[in-house]
Amino acid sequence: MSSKAPTSQATSSLPPSVFTLPQTAQLEALYTIIRDKNTRRGDFLFYSDRIIRLLVEEGLNHLPVVPKTIETPTGCSYEGVGFEGKICGVSILRAGEAMEAGLREVCRSVRIGKILIQRDEETAQPKLFYSKFPPDIAQRYVLLLDPMLATGGSAMKAIEVLMEHGVPEDRIIFINLISSPEGLNTFCKKYPLVRVITGWIDQGLNEKAYIIPGLGDFGERRYCS
Ligand code: URA
Repeated sequence: MSSKAPTSQATSSLPPSVFTLPQTAQLEALYTIIRDKNTRRGDFLFYSDRIIRLLVEEGLNHLPVVPKTIETPTGCSYEGVGFEGKICGVSILRAGEAMEAGLREVCRSVRIGKILIQRDEETAQPKLFYSKFPPDIAQRYVLLLDPMLATGGSAMKAIEVLMEHGVPEDRIIFINLISSPEGLNTFCKKYPLVRVITGWIDQGLNEKAYIIPGLGDFGERRYCS
């Protein structure tokens, strides 16, 4: 039997707002499956969902709690904590939609907004095409969902739009499966108060702005192959 020790990432060089999942051999095995170009769609769905679930749970760890005292069935008083404040998800279309089910699995009846950002062909800048948010989004913590942080352009535009809707920067938690170091650094310089939960930080970007080694086009892998 061969076992691989957990790999540790150079987290000390990461911006303080970035949190990776524990880089265990188990997690690496999940990533190896979804990165493999020969993995079929059914397995891609199953294993990417497992990672999404871990990411959502880690994202929820960053929400504040308040003291809460309850009584247990044994008649004891227990001084615990309860969740403070309301949350919502916002998925960046279309790939971010794939993460909605994972959020719903752990947060029953959570409200989920959507945002569509595409490249403006004239300016080459990310442009907002559509957004729909819960009306009280400014009072909620927002879990922003997008599987791949490549250049960071779409995510930064999404943060800009959320802040225009009154969401404070430090109430946004951005969750993604794979980040590029350059996208991560650009994003964190612009929005240092947004917490970024990422499953894995890859080597970089290729000339087409795909993450390498990456997993290819997440939307294609998830919906089409
Ligand atoms: N979006 C993807 O789906 N894959 C990448 O590598 C980069 C952006």
